[in-house]
Amino acid sequence: TIIRHYKFDIVMQNVTRLCHTKSIVTVNGKFPGPRIIAREGDRLLIRVTNHISDNITIHWHGIRQLRSGWADGPAYITQCPIQTGQSYVYNFTIVGQRGTLFWHAHISWLRATLYGPIIILPKRDASYPFLKPYKEVPIIFGEWFNADTEAIISQAMQTGGGPNVSEAYTINGLPGPLYNCSAKDTFKLKVKYGKTYLLRLINAALNDDLFFSIANHSLTVVEADAIYVKPFETNTLLITPGQTTNVLLKTKSYFPNATFLMMARPYVTGLGTFDNSTVAGILEYELPSSPHHVAMSPKKLPLFKPSLPTLNDTAFTTNFTKRVRSLASAQFPANVPQKIDRHFFFTIGLGTNPCDQNQTCQGPNGTKFTAAINNVSFVQPAKALLQSHYFGRSNGVYDPSFPVSPLIPFNYTGNPPNNTLVSNGTKVVVLPFNTSVELILQDTSILGAESHPLHLHGFNFFVVGQGFGNFDPNKDTANFNLEDPIERNTIGAPVGGWVAIRFLADNPGVWFMHCHFEVHTSWGLKMAWIVLDGNLPNQKLLPPPSDLPKC
Ligand code: C2O
Repeated sequence: TIIRHYKFDIVMQNVTRLCHTKSIVTVNGKFPGPRIIAREGDRLLIRVTNHISDNITIHWHGIRQLRSGWADGPAYITQCPIQTGQSYVYNFTIVGQRGTLFWHAHISWLRATLYGPIIILPKRDASYPFLKPYKEVPIIFGEWFNADTEAIISQAMQTGGGPNVSEAYTINGLPGPLYNCSAKDTFKLKVKYGKTYLLRLINAALNDDLFFSIANHSLTVVEADAIYVKPFETNTLLITPGQTTNVLLKTKSYFPNATFLMMARPYVTGLGTFDNSTVAGILEYELPSSPHHVAMSPKKLPLFKPSLPTLNDTAFTTNFTKRVRSLASAQFPANVPQKIDRHFFFTIGLGTNPCDQNQTCQGPNGTKFTAAINNVSFVQPAKALLQSHYFGRSNGVYDPSFPVSPLIPFNYTGNPPNNTLVSNGTKVVVLPFNTSVELILQDTSILGAESHPLHLHGFNFFVVGQGFGNFDPNKDTANFNLEDPIERNTIGAPVGGWVAIRFLADNPGVWFMHCHFEVHTSWGLKMAWIVLDGNLPNQKLLPPPSDLPKC
């Protein structure tokens, strides 16, 4: 096994965007953070040292962490935070995965500025199941807030209302020329004629699904969430927070001196406020070396802009999501669980909590906003769940009675119930090793329907079905795709609809599942699965590392 060492020093750094300078949390002073590059099968040792005044944890989003849950990173789920002055070595091996993923802070809203790509190359003797690209380029989307992001969420939690939205979206940390005072902060991709580029797209934005397109160029989707897909062409793609998508970009055989914009802006279904703006980067052809071509080039450089779907184009997103299918080849099979041991039906959506005495809340009818799964709004424990589970000290930390379906069924996509209050608790589901799970994620229309990008830690799942309205087990199950469904770690449960996923609980540990809209996670749209050890020695969670932080 090859061991790769990385050193992540968490430090503050002054960064200026949109003519606004602020001190942000970074890794090694870089924004966005450094790239992690490894091969399938490598072991990573990443020493994270906290030099700032806030607590920190880092999550390796999409890495399966087989038996190494101690390195997963969500604060108070698999570890206590790394406190000021402390270090922790994240130690894990990349098993059976190759493609693009990303890392980000997993505590409060620190991932607003603390994120970077993870690039997993195929094993040394393996190749891609598509044309070898001439070059590979990570493109990571984010959000820029002029204000301090930590202050934004604590303010929102104080007032029980929606948080302020970001001032800009970014590509590799740069907002681009469509924002005021930003033209110099534009991502530029210089390309050669007639070559194939692999773009590794990552959505690290806090609260928005994004549409992305490059003017006059079609893109071939080849991977999603580090899983090979049946290649298909598209001009535009949808990428939700937490998703990664690899696309091939074939440059034109000859194009005189033109500039093409690549743009991203949000897909929005919910009520709240959102930033209705567009990040742009530039695709620029290098001058041809042949003087003949230079002579032919026009003096004035044409500029091309892509056209993106309208903000709430659910028809586009539905169609796009359905096109993404596993490659499902002999070499990369789709091992969809065919026989299901446990069925779960989770309603996901917003709700309300009573306002605390000393608050003046801005939620509906003087309440505060909350979000829940099966009417349970998850309360972050004071001690990490994984330690509590491992050492058999669950008492007073978590409650293993998470409901398998809503306690009081209602018409989920019809009129909302009168009582929108939800209950609070640190509730989990406990699964024996190797349980095969089917889970329906049903959006509710309580306080308005909205699409939610649900992310599961510790597993990939297969997306076997999706639809609108209320899920109907008698009718909808028959249409499930059990042949070549996409396998991924984040999926948007559609607005006013449902999505069905399946996974095999073959990874012992405690695994977080949550909406990858940071605001919804803060409001409680999250829960955890505990997967018990199996009987064989290689079916057990490894013991905790000695430097595991304490609460
Ligand atoms: Cu990318 Cu739990 O997160």
